[in-house]
This record gives sequence, structure tokens and C-alpha cells, in this order.
Amino acid sequence: MAKRQDGPLKAVIVGAGHRSILYASYSETHPGELQIVGVADPDPVRVASTAVRFNIPPENCYETAADLVKVPRFADIVINGTMDSDHVPTAIPLLEAGYDILLEKPISTNQEDLLLLWETAQRTGRKVVICHVLRYAPFYAAIHERVERGDIGKILTMSTAEYVSYHHIAVVYVRGKWNRVDTGGSTLLMAKCCHDLDLLTWMKEGVRPAKVASFGNRMYFRSECAPEGAGTRCLLDCPIERDCVYSARKHYLEMDLWGPYVWHDLEYLGDSITCTDKKKYLRETSPYGRCVWRCDNDIVDHQVVVVEFEDGTIASHVLSSGNARPCRQIKLVGTNGEIEGTMENLSFVVRHPDPRPGHEYTEEKVVLDVERDFHGGGDLRLVAAALKTFRTGDPSHSTSSLANSIDGHLIGFAADRSRVNGKIEAIPEL
Ligand SMILES: NC(=O)c1ccc[n+]([C@@H]2O[C@H](COP(=O)([O-])OP(=O)(O)OC[C@H]3O[C@@H](n4cnc5c(N)ncnc54)[C@H](O)[C@@H]3O)[C@@H](O)[C@H]2O)c1
Repeated sequence: MAKRQDGPLKAVIVGAGHRSILYASYSETHPGELQIVGVADPDPVRVASTAVRFNIPPENCYETAADLVKVPRFADIVINGTMDSDHVPTAIPLLEAGYDILLEKPISTNQEDLLLLWETAQRTGRKVVICHVLRYAPFYAAIHERVERGDIGKILTMSTAEYVSYHHIAVVYVRGKWNRVDTGGSTLLMAKCCHDLDLLTWMKEGVRPAKVASFGNRMYFRSECAPEGAGTRCLLDCPIERDCVYSARKHYLEMDLWGPYVWHDLEYLGDSITCTDKKKYLRETSPYGRCVWRCDNDIVDHQVVVVEFEDGTIASHVLSSGNARPCRQIKLVGTNGEIEGTMENLSFVVRHPDPRPGHEYTEEKVVLDVERDFHGGGDLRLVAAALKTFRTGDPSHSTSSLANSIDGHLIGFAADRSRVNGKIEAIPEL
């Protein structure tokens, strides 16, 4: 199939989970730019609902990415929203089959797979755009623009932090499917903060990171930290559940948080799902009904990363969990000023030392006029930019190409090695 010049780009969804469907929803608001023409997913419920929603014919529905590449290419691109450890094994045959790919982060769960994908993309000449959605969030895009135009001079230090909420860490990284690394999954740093490490490399565009050190451990979400009298499942045998901030009843029934993760196993019930079904599931079998101190999690719950760049710039990133109010923060200090902000406030300040007698500094507040959403407005802006890159071949539309995204991931893999071996790790040459 020749690449299309006119009309919408045709896409196949590989891994019809929450992320892919969110990106694919762009086709509903921009039918002239994107059309979903196929789906591959081992989950028949998801294939069926995706086929209905995007009007996909049965002959274009597949069980896996491996089945999809057995037939001649019938679309321009693939939206790959499989789980972390499936990204590279599914992406390589798709690149070989001639598809360009919008690929979820983290790109891979280890450095070897990352470099293998990089080599395959170069050899096949295919384009891979990574879903580093924060690069497209107006908050970070505006800060990057200020850095690029030299507003604060040459960056000397960068401090970023992600403060993960208590209910987010509990659902995804303690009870949920990103809670273990020994089964080949991502570390907490790579799953949660590969975005932030990527932003550090973006702010220092053109200068490579050189050395990395990191500390982190699992200090709180372990059985010895359980409050006295805590049971094993919140709705089954826990006498202190009503006073516990991690109560599954409170998070998933009363506050209705994180539904797509928590009720995934009950998706087959469709709209007929009842509160009784949910209570029974949480009480009896759901991993999300477990006491947070009595789960099978092995990943860290807090971590700090320090990076030295080749020009001497030093950066640090703090990953903190259990926060009442979640947020992402950034502070960049340059030779001629500083930028500081919190993404969730949708504003940042630019300060400069003031040479006037009696004046300490000037401060400009930048307020962004965007809707508040999960990734600061980045999700669908990413899709729009990626489609332009796929269509024109011009990577300037999409800053999160595979080539641009590699260094942030290399920092993350080096940090996790350092955390375990206690040594300073060098970033490999490419
Ligand atoms: N960009 C972001 O900010 C962001 C945010 C959250 C999650 N993510 C990432 O998005 C990815 C998907 O997350 P999700 O919550 O949508 O997961 P999900 O479990 O809802 O979806 C993954 C889907 O892949 C399917 N699948 C598994 N093996 C497959 C194969 N061989 N071929 C085709 N399909 C296959 C599964 O059946 C499932 O439906 C993960 O890598 C996650 O880390 C990214």
C-alpha cells in the first residue's frame, strides 16, 4: 500500500486499551485527518467495542499484532497502546511491515530493547513518535519556548518533581498492574517519570546527559507498615477501613476514582454493571480490593535522580508518592534568570536579577489559557502533531520522535541501575 497524500491517515489500533482509544478519539473530532480502519487486541470484548465505536469491518479485526503483520499493510500508521513490555516486541514487526507508529511510553522496559527498536527504525526508515504528551502540554511548551529564545540564558540547574497522589500510587503502583518489576514490567521511575526525565533532555536540547546517580526504595507500602488491626481486603475483613485513607470503598465506590483501571475485568458487563457487582468484586477477587500494605508490590515508592549533562548542567528529579494533592513542578535556573512553575496551576513565573539600585528582581507571571485535563492538555495535541509528522515526514511538527526521546529513557535506565548498585552510571554513546 502506497502512503496517502490526501484524505485522512488510516490507522490500526494495536492494544485497544484506555490510551489507544483516547488517541483514536481524535478521529471522531477530526475525520479529515485520521480514520481508524483496524484493531488488534487479544481481548474480544475490547475488539468488539472498538469495532462498533470506529465502524471497523470484521475482516480488519485481529487478535494480536503478530496476526496483523501476516496480512499486507492496509493502513498508514499504527497506534500502539499495548502494555510496557509489549511495546518493542509488537513494534519491531510492525516497522518491518511498513507501518509508522505512534508508540506509548515507556518505549521499552530495558535499555537493550530500546536500542534494538532504534536500530530497526533507522534500518527500515519508518517513523516512530513517542507519546511524551507533556512536551505538547501548553505549560511545558511555553516554558521550552522561553528557554529556546534565551530568556534565562544558559541553563545551570534544573529541578523537577512529580508528587503522585495517595490514591494514584495505590491504584496503579501498589494494587494495580504496574506494581511489579520482577515479571518484566517497568520500574516506578520509568512508568511514572520517563516524561519528566524526557523534559530535562528537551530543555537541554543538543547537550547529552553524561552521568546519573539515584536513590530509592520501598519504604511505606509493605506489611510491617500496616496500621494495627488492618485486614487483608478493605470490604471483607478490615475493622479500620472506615478511617483508612487508602480504603478501596472510599476510592473506587464513593469517590468513583480510576474506574477504567479498577473495573477492567468487569467490562464484559457493559452498562449493566451494578454497585452490587462492584462491591462483590472488590470484596472477593479484585486486586484493587486488597489492603495497600498487604499486596504483592515490589516496586519502590519514592526515588530521587541526579543527572550531570556534558556541559556541566546539573539536574535533579524527585518522585514522591502518597501526596494529598498531586502535581508536577519545575524550576530552571540559568545564567540570566529563572523559570518556576507547577503544571496544575497552569501558570509559571520568569524572574530576572534586577540591576537597578534598590531592586532585587523582576517577575513576570505567565498564565495559560487552556482547559485543565489529565496531562495539562497534552494528549490530543500530541496526536495532531504526530499526524503532521507522519503525513509530511517533517519531524519538526513532533518533537517527541524516537531519536529525541532516547536520552530521557537512557537516564531512567541508568538511574535504576544506580539505585540498585549504588554507583554513578555513565550514559552510553549512541
Ligand atoms: N502517555 C502517557 O502519559 C500514558 C499514561 C498512562 C499509560 N500509558 C502507557 O500506555 C500503555 C497502555 O496503557 P493502558 O492503560 O491503555 O493499558 P491497557 O491494559 O488498557 O491496554 C493494553 C491493551 O493491549 C492489549 N494487548 C496485549 N498484548 C497485545 C498484543 N500482542 N497485540 C495487541 N494488543 C495487545 C491488551 O489486551 C490491552 O487491551 C502502557 O504502556 C502505559 O504505560 C501512557
